Amino acid sequence: MMKARLIGTGSFVPKKILTNYDLEKMVETSDSWISTRTGIRQRRVAVEDSTSEMAAKAAKAALKAAGVSPKEIDLIIVGTVTPDMTFPSSACFVQSHLGVKSGAAAFDVSAACSGFLYALDIANKYIKSGSVQKALVIGADRFSRLVDWKDRSTCVLFGDGAGAVVLSAEKGNRGVLSSRIHSDGRHWEMLYADSPCPPSPFEKKGSGNHYLKMNGNETFKLAVRTMGSAIKEVMEETGLKPEDISLLIPHQANLRIINAARDRLKLAEEKVFTNLDKYGNTSAGSIPIALDEAVREGKVKDNDIILFVSFGGGLTWASAAVRW
Ligand code: ACO
Repeated sequence: MMKARLIGTGSFVPKKILTNYDLEKMVETSDSWISTRTGIRQRRVAVEDSTSEMAAKAAKAALKAAGVSPKEIDLIIVGTVTPDMTFPSSACFVQSHLGVKSGAAAFDVSAACSGFLYALDIANKYIKSGSVQKALVIGADRFSRLVDWKDRSTCVLFGDGAGAVVLSAEKGNRGVLSSRIHSDGRHWEMLYADSPCPPSPFEKKGSGNHYLKMNGNETFKLAVRTMGSAIKEVMEETGLKPEDISLLIPHQANLRIINAARDRLKLAEEKVFTNLDKYGNTSAGSIPIALDEAVREGKVKDNDIILFVSFGGGLTWASAAVRW
């Protein structure tokens, strides 16, 4: 059977850096509170780049790394909850920005911070079914539009950015070994952002403001639990042991959540990739940006086993194991 091999990665973050010290001037917070509670020191915020432009720039870099022309792409999936417009999808904009052939399929997936792993899971299944040869899988979000910059409990956590991979249908044992996606809508109120559309004149109740709302403590507890079970799931399915894992690339939300997942797995610190100190939580962009950095820093070698794990609004969670 065909496997979906990850043959190229790319990422893009906006130029503008917002440090914890910058935030001290905007809300009642401190660098020490943010860095000790989360591990975040700075984040990037988009001034000009829209979500689809960031996605296209990341995808362009991934295509270059893979040596693949946009004309060869059959499928584009963008994980995002901050599309440029309600419709068309960000994936259609990426298709247009990159000159991907007319007739390719393009759509977005809404799974908040699990968006990239949801998109990877779907593309993997298209490739395994034989209907797609090459796919672009992208995670991109612009949370600077979604957070209330007067709310210190949320604005310190997030940043903007995008990451992408090119998947190719190939025979052999390299590629996605296992991929799982899950949700539990009962917990939607843990983390959500209301509709950006104004209420219609027929509605009884307005939809309120569109800013992100979060129950941080409860999200934290659920994140630790779901990340642990999601990792266990793909390890059991593939028969992998902790010593087989070359690198764990978790969703970059909070260093304390990542360390809790690492402890459960009894993984050495150097086997867990983190870059949230530089970018904060970039939602769907988080895992593919981290993967691209790990690849470019030479931390990923042929045949390495890489694990990915995420959780996000929904509540959603997902995991994947890949042989590089
Ligand atoms: N600066 C200073 N003080 C603050 C700040 C801030 N930025 N934010 C909150 N505080 C205060 C609170 O008001 C509270 O004060 P009080 O004790 O006087 O009431 C105190 O700090 C402690 O607040 P807690 O919320 O209990 O702090 P906690 O240690 O739980 O850390 C945090 C909060 C960092 C939000 C943590 O709960 C967390 O990371 N949760 C997970 C969030 C997450 O990962 N969200 C993303 C999900 S992915 C997606 O789909 C987008």
